[in-house]
Amino acid sequence: MKTHRCNAQSSACLEHAAAVLRSGGLVAFPTETVYGLGADGLSEEAASRIFEAKGRPQDNPLILHISDILQLEPLVQNVPPVAAKLMDVFWPGPLTLIFQASEIVPKAVTAGLSTVAVRFPSHPVARALIAAADLPVAAPSANRSGRPSPTDAHAVWADMAGRIECLVDGGETEIGLESTVLDVTGEIPRILRPGALTAEDFEVVIGPVAADEALTDAQATPRSPGQKYRHYAPRAPVVVCKDETALRAEATKRRARGECISVLVFGEAAGPDEFSLGSRTDLSQMAHRLFRLLREADTPRTQAILVSAVPETGWGIAIMNRLHKAAAKEELK
Ligand code: TXA
Ligand code: MG
Repeated sequence: MKTHRCNAQSSACLEHAAAVLRSGGLVAFPTETVYGLGADGLSEEAASRIFEAKGRPQDNPLILHISDILQLEPLVQNVPPVAAKLMDVFWPGPLTLIFQASEIVPKAVTAGLSTVAVRFPSHPVARALIAAADLPVAAPSANRSGRPSPTDAHAVWADMAGRIECLVDGGETEIGLESTVLDVTGEIPRILRPGALTAEDFEVVIGPVAADEALTDAQATPRSPGQKYRHYAPRAPVVVCKDETALRAEATKRRARGECISVLVFGEAAGPDEFSLGSRTDLSQMAHRLFRLLREADTPRTQAILVSAVPETGWGIAIMNRLHKAAAKEELK
């Protein structure tokens, strides 16, 4: 398949992409978090193609993206009062809500669960595309399954060229990590995947919010199927380290053995194999850069990528969630 790549600034590009979606094809497009891989979210067949293109496990459900609040009602059985309050404050934006699904939502989207994930993105290109297609758009992140999520068109192209009909290039995404996933179907709203919006942000609006046990207890089964897989991973092993002095010492030791090591640290990068995560006092910079740097640091020669860990508060919760999954078991104390 030949992938048509076009610039989001052009209206012909968006018209073409919307027509592809309407005819059951796959379109990668920018959102404020990461690039999505979109398909007609009401079509069993179109949504199924996403799994094939990504190599995604069949039991991992998709998020339906809407561009107007009126698109929500037909997709869900009800809108709990807490959800309505959150939507008022945080939609459009990087918040995915889990509802009881209506019968029009295809099984390929819910992966057979009784619930459905819905998000109203704020990115103008995402909104324009969804509106032009006039459909809820099913879209996971536009990476091959297991790889870091793409935050620019270059990364989408590397993973998806030849596997999808169209790539809408809208430049770099702003946030860089995926949306916060919040389940509002239970007594207490529960965070299933941490993101830029945190429990503290929600608690101001709706009171107490819980976190899925699986986010802190490795033995617990995640309620969000996607959380159980190794994820966000470059080809080279990722090693996470709390102490930058120890991290640099480890890099020096391995380089002395002749290994090719990439290092991701705060502040200025000191050499060609070092990459800057930005300022330690503003972790939104690390969030914005992390997935791009994990790809850049991963050259064919790279034998390990050493990354600075951060305290698990604010942005740090989502960042460390992604790093733990990228690193699998390897962690320096
Ligand atoms: O920021 C984002 O959310 C991006 C952009 C493209 O919108 N999308 C994204 O999709 O990250 P994906 O498929 O990579 O991650 C969706 C997550 C997965 O962990 C999945 O298991 C979870 O949401 N999810 C989807 N439907 C669910 C459901 N009904 N119940 C629980 N978790 C669900
Ligand atoms: Mg993903």
